Amino acid sequence: MKTPVDIAVTGAAGQISYSLLFRLAAGDLLGPDQPIVLRLLEITPALEVLKGVVMELNDCAFPLLNKVIITDDAKVAFDNVDYAFLVGARPRKEGMLRSDLLSQNAEIFRVQGKALNDVASRKVKALVTGNPANTNAFLAINNAPDLAPECFAAMAMLDHTRAISMLAQKCGVLTRDVKNISVWGNHSCMQYPDLHHAWVKGQKALSLVEQEWFVNEFIPTLQHRGTQVIKARGQSSAASAANAAIKHMFTWINGTEEGDWVSMAVPSDGSYGIESGLVFSFPVTVTDGVYNIVKGLDINEFSLERLRQNEAELIEERQAVRHLL
Ligand code: NAD
Ligand code: LMR
Repeated sequence: MKTPVDIAVTGAAGQISYSLLFRLAAGDLLGPDQPIVLRLLEITPALEVLKGVVMELNDCAFPLLNKVIITDDAKVAFDNVDYAFLVGARPRKEGMLRSDLLSQNAEIFRVQGKALNDVASRKVKALVTGNPANTNAFLAINNAPDLAPECFAAMAMLDHTRAISMLAQKCGVLTRDVKNISVWGNHSCMQYPDLHHAWVKGQKALSLVEQEWFVNEFIPTLQHRGTQVIKARGQSSAASAANAAIKHMFTWINGTEEGDWVSMAVPSDGSYGIESGLVFSFPVTVTDGVYNIVKGLDINEFSLERLRQNEAELIEERQAVRHLL
């Protein structure tokens, strides 16, 4: 058996984690021969609930789960970890925008950025899921000066898988027939799901769907999908978010498939004119555990305007958390 790998999960008593932890313990991230240790972080009042979740984890007798550590101290949770899922944050309720969470959640990511900086492995992969994810990741990066910014990413994978699914249904194909979907920008109602470079069974996606559908159905449906899930369930997406978190981290570790890419919110390097350092969702490929923004795609006026709107929104969010930098 291999040496166990430590994985930190924050917000471990919450609804996303209720799906995520069991999939991690089943081997969905690191494979069927890799034992793991789960290091679970919660706020003190939620530790009792978390103990119940740990009872259930134990009751599954997962062969790969060597140990579970629960704590309310970020430095204990992140001690020497290679993988950190930063899920813990308040979710929005009906009628709220994700940016309404900024004032409540930003402080969490300032503290956790510092803790990762102090104790995590120097090659940690930290994925921010808690909303507003892009700006929370920006805060974590800026409070972790000794870690490379590339140790962080925010989750746009749920938007990415939603876009694949919607296009596949429209074209009457399987999701695996869809390639090169891009979701640009902020994980907000401004996000820009883009079909200009996408392929369906070897044909250009935009040659198979009407422009009208792309502009008036595809884009707005995806921009508001999170809101629709909240409306229907009374709670924000959880199992699909956990799936996206695993898919993001799995891809970050194992790489993208030949000829395809995924959408990840990563620190901008100035590509496509997006201000450096903003955590912006781009199409990326991953090689040897490192993400690379896909360069040189043709961006028409329609797309450029949407990229600019996302950049402006993220600059506004950054302004709102300036005091925490
Ligand atoms: P939840 O309320 O069910 O769980 C959040 C948990 O985080 C709670 O148990 C809470 O006690 C804990 N928590 C709060 N502050 C903490 C801290 N400082 N340290 C550790 N834990 C802390 O919420 P959820 O449904 O699991 O969602 C979690 C976050 O993920 C929300 O912000 C939600 O909006 C976001 N989300 C993002 C995406 C995405 O695509 N990026 C998708 C779905 C949900
Ligand atoms: C989602 O996209 O489902 C999540 O970000 C939750 C939300 O608030 O929409």
